[in-house]
Order: sequence, then structure tokens, then C-alpha cells
Amino acid sequence: MKFMSYVQNIGQKKLLVKKMSDEVFNLKVPKDIVINDAIPFSVDQQVWIQGYMAGLKAQIDSKPLVQVDKDVIMLDILYGTQTGSAESIAQDMSQVAKDAGMVTNIKPLDDIDMSMFSKMENVAIVTSTYGEGETPDNSQIFWELLCQSTAPKLDNMKFSVLGLGDTSYDEFCHAGKLLDTRLEQLGAKRIEQRVDCDLDFDVQAEKWISTVVSKWKPVFKENVKEVIEHTHKKYVPVTYNRKNPYPAKLLRSRLLSGKNSAKEIVHYEIGLGDSGLTYEVGDSISIFPTNKKQLVNSIINRLGITNDTVPIGFEDTIEILLTEKYEILTPSKRLIEYVADKSGDKVLKKLVDSEDKKAIEDYKWGMDVLDFMNINPNLKFDAPEFLSLCQSLQHRAYSISSSMNKHDKEVHLTVSSVRWKNDDRNYNGVCSTFLADDIQAGGELKVFFMPNKSFRLPDDDKDIIMIGPGTGIAPFRAFLQEREVRKSTGKNWLFFGDQTRSDDFIYKQELAKLLTNKTLSKLDLAFSRDQKEKIYVQHKMYENKQVFYDWLESGAYIYVCGDATRMAKDVEDMILQIVNECSSNDPKEYLTKLKKEKRYLRDVY
Ligand SMILES: Cc1cc2nc3c(=O)[nH]c(=O)nc-3n(C[C@H](O)[C@H](O)[C@H](O)COP(=O)(O)OP(=O)(O)OC[C@H]3O[C@@H](n4cnc5c(N)ncnc54)[C@H](O)[C@@H]3O)c2cc1C
Ligand SMILES: Cc1cc2nc3c(=O)[nH]c(=O)nc-3n(C[C@H](O)[C@H](O)[C@H](O)COP(=O)(O)O)c2cc1C
Repeated sequence: MKFMSYVQNIGQKKLLVKKMSDEVFNLKVPKDIVINDAIPFSVDQQVWIQGYMAGLKAQIDSKPLVQVDKDVIMLDILYGTQTGSAESIAQDMSQVAKDAGMVTNIKPLDDIDMSMFSKMENVAIVTSTYGEGETPDNSQIFWELLCQSTAPKLDNMKFSVLGLGDTSYDEFCHAGKLLDTRLEQLGAKRIEQRVDCDLDFDVQAEKWISTVVSKWKPVFKENVKEVIEHTHKKYVPVTYNRKNPYPAKLLRSRLLSGKNSAKEIVHYEIGLGDSGLTYEVGDSISIFPTNKKQLVNSIINRLGITNDTVPIGFEDTIEILLTEKYEILTPSKRLIEYVADKSGDKVLKKLVDSEDKKAIEDYKWGMDVLDFMNINPNLKFDAPEFLSLCQSLQHRAYSISSSMNKHDKEVHLTVSSVRWKNDDRNYNGVCSTFLADDIQAGGELKVFFMPNKSFRLPDDDKDIIMIGPGTGIAPFRAFLQEREVRKSTGKNWLFFGDQTRSDDFIYKQELAKLLTNKTLSKLDLAFSRDQKEKIYVQHKMYENKQVFYDWLESGAYIYVCGDATRMAKDVEDMILQIVNECSSNDPKEYLTKLKKEKRYLRDVY
């Protein structure tokens, strides 16, 4: 347990107590409440403090969560996340708020019911956006309840929202915007304007935290920066994370897909050395790629400068900036709008002005930054201006396809290399082909883990259904390894598929072994192009509809991983259809119940 001492005003007395740990305020049961030995409390005082702390905890535990003392502000920090960023910001905020003397409670949005929510007075919400402008999986139930006409009045609530998103999506930070508006509609008062963050959210998030905390605790305002820095130093353990990635080693890789496959799917094994880093099955790892040399050179050439030029206002050469720091494959919205304005290209200008998202999407599909720069070869780009039109280069996430219990100090990945061709030009997805082309065995990769608490295996005796075509199989390879090592008694059913059995049946031998040793109880395969009509995983689910429904009825968990745009939706529609055809249940209510019970879990991208 981590403890920190602080002076707390309790009634008339100023007592120095050891404050309960993060775990306590995160509503886990404290093992003990320790009183600082250095302070000579009388036995009575000790009993009083123990009683106070226990009472404080009881108030936190009891639903609803209420302000614990008239002098102590209770801040509920709620988050909606898919890959953990919103949660980590919520944790940062909690530390800062605690340092300002507030009591905090951090929860995923779906863990909050409406009666609890209606009693909260000070609420900070951090949420990302997923799918096409949707709320992340761990806040969907909350959002549905909040939208109902029966949603409670929130007249006593003060709130602020931080949205996480990506400006390359049409519905930028949509989930945050919706929540912000809905809370206002229900009567809650905005204590601070919503902030919408792009992928490089650190600076904005930190500013939002300090502004919002200082609104509740004005005294805190004077030394915000100091406190944040201090808090970070004090609480963030020296470890590997997004800001301090671990230099891992690529141990080996092998091509999984066959030579006639339309895809290139590669298995990577990465060494964690003596870092002490650990992960759980269901987690992802993020990798920092660099851009391809050829593309970097072409853009420098297009800018009309030399590789060693240091653009005004920067410290690195243009070569370093374009290789390591800027996204130079996928054009940003800013760049597209700039080219539409300045290039004189009427078609593009009309398209951008029309705001017809689908038409813009179709137009830019397959085009990269260089293509946009070359729409008008005479259009001049000044280097600093060009850089301001590009997004910063982001790490990419990959579902981990191994279990540490089977492969000590290793992480395995299953990655499809993104490549396409247009008019004789070859295009390469940044990270997948950085892995495939630019890193050899023994080479270094900057990585950090992204724990996914909403995609964990259930207890060993529970049955699981895993639906993961293509690279969606990755976390399920990890699940199966884990369940094999643990000798779990729950049954495991996998739906896998891709284009052809001959070239796309990845991990075929491993799966055969797992079937033989009975770790895998049932394997259903859908190879879409092996016959005239297209067969996908959802068709295999339908073929097995009664058994599928029986598994659900006996408590099985459903996991879906892979393509978010089509597969995940088709699979969900099929679950609804199966429930409809095999029972008298209302399919939507049934699915909501599965979600509430955390028995329908997705890792889709
Ligand atoms: C939580 C999570 C887990 C993931 N797990 C995995 C995994 O296990 N395995 C895996 O392979 N991926 C996984 N991904 C996806 C992965 O993060 C990357 O998005 C993927 O590898 C592509 O990244 P890239 O840098 O290679 O391509 P980018 O540089 O990001 O380029 C992708 C872009 O290229 C364009 N494009 C792609 N194909 C074409 C085409 N045929 N024609 C024209 N344009 C095209 C599209 O605009 C697309 O957005 C996961 C993503 C998330 C969020
Ligand atoms: C499959 C997928 C879909 C996404 N859809 C959107 C979107 O519609 N709008 C948006 O602003 N951001 C979108 N994002 C970006 C995320 O919101 C962003 O990466 C955010 O920082 C993730 O935060 P989290 O780790 O807390 O989930 C999407 C990301 C992924 C991987």
C-alpha cells in the first residue's frame, strides 16, 4: 500500500494522519488504517481517527457516493475508454485532486447506475470515442440510460468533460460532445468548458486537469504547475509507459500467410529482457514506428530543401522530424483543407466545401500526404508551415497473441502488413510495414503496454466463445495458451476465418494441437472465398445457433476481436438474430444483459 501524509482539518482539530491508500479511495477494502507513529496520539485519539477513516470509507462504499465532509470535496472521476488512455488521465487527475485536498472516486462509466449518478455533485468525465463516433464499450450502458426519458435531473451536479479522439475521424470526440450536451440538458452546471483532444493529448489533458481541479479548489490555482509536476514525480513510478517506452528486442518473426494469400500476416516475437514488464492476456502493446526512408526523402525533395535543413522554430533536421516525429502517410484534415484552399483544384475545393464526408472519404482513399502535396506541383510548402499541417506520428496498438505463462519474458503479435498500390506507386502502412521491412531480428522496438481490463478471461470454470477472424485471432491465441497452462475447466469455442483455407488458415498446427489436447473444445472455420457464396464467421454462428444459444444460457462469455467496421457489426447482428430465433427473449434486452454482466466483450479496431 502506498501512503501519503497530509494535514487534514477534521472538526476543530488539525490532525496529521496517514491517508488511506489509492486502493481505499478506489473502493477496495483497506487491509488496515495506519496512524503515523511519529505523532503522539492518545489511545482515544487513535480510536477516533480509526473511526473517522472507517466512516469515511463506509460513506464511499455506500451507494450513493456522497460528499464526505463539508470541508472535503468529493470528486467523482468517471471514464470511458477502450485502450486505457482515458483511464490513465483519470488516474492522473485523481492524484492531482487528492493533492489539492479532495477525495476522489474513479470509476468506468458503466459501473455507475443512474441513482448513484444523480447524487454526485462534482463530476469530471474523461471519454474517448470509438467506432464511428460511438461511446467506448465500457460506457455504452451508461450512455443508453442517460439518454432515456427517465434519466434523473442533475441540478446539483457540477461537471466538466475531457474528450479524447482523433481528428482524422469525421466524428471527432463525438462521445465527449454528446455527454457534455446531455449533462447540460439534465440540469448539470458546467464548471469548465469541455476540451477535445487529438491523439497527442498530454498537454491539453494536463491543462484541463489543473484548470478543472482549481475550479473546485481555487486555492490550488496559485501553484498548479508545481503541484502537477510534484504529483507526477511523487506518484508516477519510474516505469515504462507511453512517455517512456521500453526498448524491446525483436527476437524472431515468421510469415503466417501462404504465398498465394492476398494478405501478408506476420507473427512477431518480442523480448522483454530483464525489464520486469508484465502483461495479462487480453492486453495490447503499442509500438512506436518510424517512417519509410523513401517517403521521407520524397517529401524533403518536394519541399525543395536538403535533409540536413533545420526548419525555423525546430531543433531537429527535417530528416529526423519526418522520420520520427510526423505522420507523413495519412494526410490530416488540416492538410487536405489547406491544399483545397491553395491548390486551385476546383474539384477538391468543391468537395471539401460540400462537407460530404462519404465523398471526401472516397476521394482520399489510398492517397497519402505526398499525393496531396502534388495535387498542384507548383504549390509551394514552407517547411515549418508544412509540419504544422501534419499530425504527430503516433504509436500503433496490437493485441498480444501470447500468454506470459507460456512464453516467459516474451510478447507475440499477429500483424497484417498494410500495403497497397495506386498508379504504379507502392504505399506502406507505417507501423505494420516498419515491423515487416525495417526491423530485423535483434533490432530494437520502442513499446509500452496497454492493459485492457475490459477484455479479460473469466474464472477458469466458465465457458468462452471467441470470434476472431483474420488478425482477430491474436488475443484468442493468448487466451488458449493461458487456459492450457492453467488447465482451466471451462470450455473454449473459437470461430476463425479469412479468405482461403490453403493460404490464410494461420496457426493451423497450433489450433490442431489444442483441439487434440482438448484445450479447444470447438473450432468453427469460415473461409469466404473457398466456395461460390461468401461464408463468414457469422454464418458459422448461425449454423450452430442452438448450441450457441445454449452456451450463452449456461453462462458463456462472448469475445469478439478484429475488424470494427463490418465484422463486429455483422457478428452483433447475428447474436441478436440467434437470440430471437432460439428464445422468446427480447434480443436487445438480452444483449444489454450480457453487456451488463460483462459477458459480451470486444477488442475491435
Ligand atoms: C486495440 C487495437 C488492437 C489492434 N490489434 C491488431 C492486431 O492484433 N493485428 C493487426 O494487424 N492490427 C491490429 N490493430 C491495428 C493496428 O493498430 C494498425 O492500425 C494497423 O497495423 C495499421 O497500421 P499501419 O501503421 O501499418 O497503417 P497506417 O499507416 O495507420 O495506415 C492505415 C491507413 O492506410 C489506408 N489504407 C489501408 N489499406 C488500404 C488500401 N488497401 N488501399 C488504400 N488505402 C489503404 C487507410 O486509410 C488506413 O487508415 C489493432 C488496433 C487497435 C486499436
Ligand atoms: C477503431 C477506432 C475507432 C475510432 N473512432 C474514433 C471516432 O469516431 N472519433 C474520434 O474522435 N476518435 C476515434 N478514435 C480515436 C480514439 O478515440 C483515440 O485513439 C483515443 O485517444 C483512445 O482513447 P482510449 O485509449 O481511452 O480508448 C478511434 C480509434 C479506433 C482504434
